[in-house]
Amino acid sequence: YGTPLFVYDIELYRNRARAFQNTFKNAGIGYQVAYASKAFSSVAIYQVAAQEGLSLDVVSGGELYTAIKAGFPKEKIHFHGNNKSWEELKMAFDEEIGCIVVDNFHEIEQLKKLAEATGRQMNILLRVTPGIEAHTHDYITTGQEDSKFGFDLNNGQADQAFKETFEHSHLNVLGLHCHIGSQIFDTAAFRMAAGKLVSKMAEWRDETGYVCPVLNLGGGFGIRYTEDDQPLEPAEYVREMIETVKEITGQTGFAIPEIWIEPGRSLVGDAGTTLYTIGSMKEVPKVRKYIAVDGGMSDNIRPALYGAAYSSMIANKGRHALTETYTVAGKCCESGDKLIESAILPEAEPGDILAVFCTGAYGYSMASNYNRIARPAVVFAENGAHQLAVRRETYDDVVSLDLDYHAKAAVK
Ligand code: LLP
Repeated sequence: YGTPLFVYDIELYRNRARAFQNTFKNAGIGYQVAYASKAFSSVAIYQVAAQEGLSLDVVSGGELYTAIKAGFPKEKIHFHGNNKSWEELKMAFDEEIGCIVVDNFHEIEQLKKLAEATGRQMNILLRVTPGIEAHTHDYITTGQEDSKFGFDLNNGQADQAFKETFEHSHLNVLGLHCHIGSQIFDTAAFRMAAGKLVSKMAEWRDETGYVCPVLNLGGGFGIRYTEDDQPLEPAEYVREMIETVKEITGQTGFAIPEIWIEPGRSLVGDAGTTLYTIGSMKEVPKVRKYIAVDGGMSDNIRPALYGAAYSSMIANKGRHALTETYTVAGKCCESGDKLIESAILPEAEPGDILAVFCTGAYGYSMASNYNRIARPAVVFAENGAHQLAVRRETYDDVVSLDLDYHAKAAVK
């Protein structure tokens, strides 16, 4: 297939999907597990998600279009986003997708107009910011969360949004949604969020008599990029969520809602590995040794953007002693294009294959053509077999949108 190459272990994806779903089934709780497909969006992965009975989160017309091309069951598609365009919302109505996760008052206005224009009903969830922000190892609570997403739960915005949508004949309010962060290891923040959202739904029941049937707690379950990361088993997060929801519903006498979750990274992150070919090498005496690979920030922006850490091995030297420390650099024209600051590896030579692990989430999906580097291919592996899932870009693909410039033809 050539390098750089993304290789996905599809069995791992299926096992995770099943573990999440079985946890709900075993607890006797209604659920939807939606694959947050911004982590890696392609026709083939959507088809695997459909085979596993997952629902699907999309955040743009492009992801929605991909889902439709993949033949994904439309009633299981959920549409997110803080600035969905009229065209995108219309597409959601025309395709009769399962649910729109409403983010702001402008969107409510657009939805009302679309409902009137099409005469169609639409299921909606209201996205709220509960004032909890979770980070990798800890979480903070802020009275008034500063976020571009959602209605504030604490300052009356969420109540206003409920009032405006609940009274509308064509908008069917399923319940509340929140997403409190990514790469979370601790369950305390999820518990707090679940508590706040259920309490709000109980408050609305007391005021209106209407019982929201769905609680969506988003994604964000952490995975192990390096030895420093100590995540729980993915299903463990779900077990804790269910416990909290049971406790709070018990206290408020609220019927246990369906619980929806939206894992992205924990379905595809550690299922993906990138294979690169090592090319040039450079030693800065007494400072460091560089090895350069045939990709870089064009296929994995996360180290440059977030300081993300990865582990790696030389795939063709799996049994060699780990004697060297290298900085793994990419091939882009940018000093910051480094994939791994300090990789402990066997002695490397040009032509060796470097495997970088856990690149399955937000790698390909955030890839670019910076420096006009063609995007890698993606291969799915399962049961000892392999298959191309996204073909490698060619130079012709890279220039395929470019037009010749004819000065005389320019429009005045
Ligand atoms: N649901 C919502 C509403 C989200 O905004 C996200 C991620 C997810 C679910 C999935 O979260 P996950 O389970 O994958 O953590 N580019 C960043 C991550 C951005 C996450 C955006 N939202 C990265 O590379 O780490």
